[in-house]
Amino acid sequence: MIYAEHLRKEFKKTVKDPGLKGSFKALFNPKKEIVVAADDITFHVPEGEILGFIGPNGAGKSTVIKMLTGILTPTSGECRINGKIPTNDRKKYVKEIGAVFGQRTQLWWDLPLQETYHVLKEIYEVDDYKFKKRMDFLNEVLELEKFIKSPVRTLSLGQRMRADIAASMLHSPKVLFLDEPTIGLDVVVKDNIRQAIMKINKEEKTTVVLTTHDISDIELLCDRIVMIDKGKNVYDGSLHKLRENYGQTRELVFETDNSSKLTEEQFRKGLNLKKSDLVVEREQNSFKVKFNSKKIPVGEMLGYTLSLTKVKDISVKDADIEEIIRSLYRQGGASDE
Ligand SMILES: Nc1ncnc2c1ncn2[C@@H]1O[C@H](COP(=O)(O)OP(=O)(O)OP(=O)(O)O)[C@@H](O)[C@H]1O
Ligand SMILES: [Mg+2]
Repeated sequence: MIYAEHLRKEFKKTVKDPGLKGSFKALFNPKKEIVVAADDITFHVPEGEILGFIGPNGAGKSTVIKMLTGILTPTSGECRINGKIPTNDRKKYVKEIGAVFGQRTQLWWDLPLQETYHVLKEIYEVDDYKFKKRMDFLNEVLELEKFIKSPVRTLSLGQRMRADIAASMLHSPKVLFLDEPTIGLDVVVKDNIRQAIMKINKEEKTTVVLTTHDISDIELLCDRIVMIDKGKNVYDGSLHKLRENYGQTRELVFETDNSSKLTEEQFRKGLNLKKSDLVVEREQNSFKVKFNSKKIPVGEMLGYTLSLTKVKDISVKDADIEEIIRSLYRQGGASDE
């Protein structure tokens, strides 16, 4: 259904030296710098799959989604969705897809929601019968009733997001691109949105590409994940496999005796492990140590800890999926610049 092949996107950015002089210089003789937002991204999504498209801030996710939806033209590489190249035949293409960009609404600000849907019905050429059926369905799962007569600008974030999701699903698209559809929402609204995604995926075999920073979205919805970082592929596979491959992280928690003067640095010093293999956090007498059990076995870690200090309490547990993903981001040297 979706083929993304070696997608690359460069942006030209004007850089300016500091100060007023710099501003003038930039105005008359702008210095350009190239930002590579997507470097080389390749992945495929079969029909009916919900793909979790994840990565740290600035990884290039939104840029890739914009290329897939035809908003941006790739600098190089190619994407093909349901046999179409998004930028070639935009008019036909937009009828086959739905898109939500959680960080900004696609709806008309001053129009009451209900009217917005009527306009979309005409744009997408949805017939009356299908429109009514669809609206009933969306009303039910997303609970739009309470605010459907209000102008979009008066909606709360959670209401607006539900309205946006409904708009993206109105014309029964074959593919849905959801870029952070649950950002900033409370658990109830998140649940509504997840239900809507799950239902149309099940009932209509809608293919979904979902970007999120909420691991629960991934655990509840996604069959597979593609993780990118700094514009490059980092992981492509099932969540299950990710757990198996990278699930060697363990968490050791212990509380030292009041007389102990153990510091984070002392603890780290004796182990000589890379930062990605050992994270030590301390809060008063409590230590939390996340470590790679492939580099240092659990037993050895316990022995080491007990040899350093007197402990009151100690326990070891497996890392959850969130922890695994966080450590993968760290290994990639992911940063938020
Ligand atoms: N129009 C643009 N002009 C210049 N640089 C851009 C533009 N759009 C994105 N970038 C840069 O490209 C990189 C990737 O941005 P993108 O928005 O795709 O990241 P993201 O993975 O969606 O991040 P987030 O999780 O924060 O939404 C960033 O460094 C960003 O600053
Ligand atoms: Mg983004």
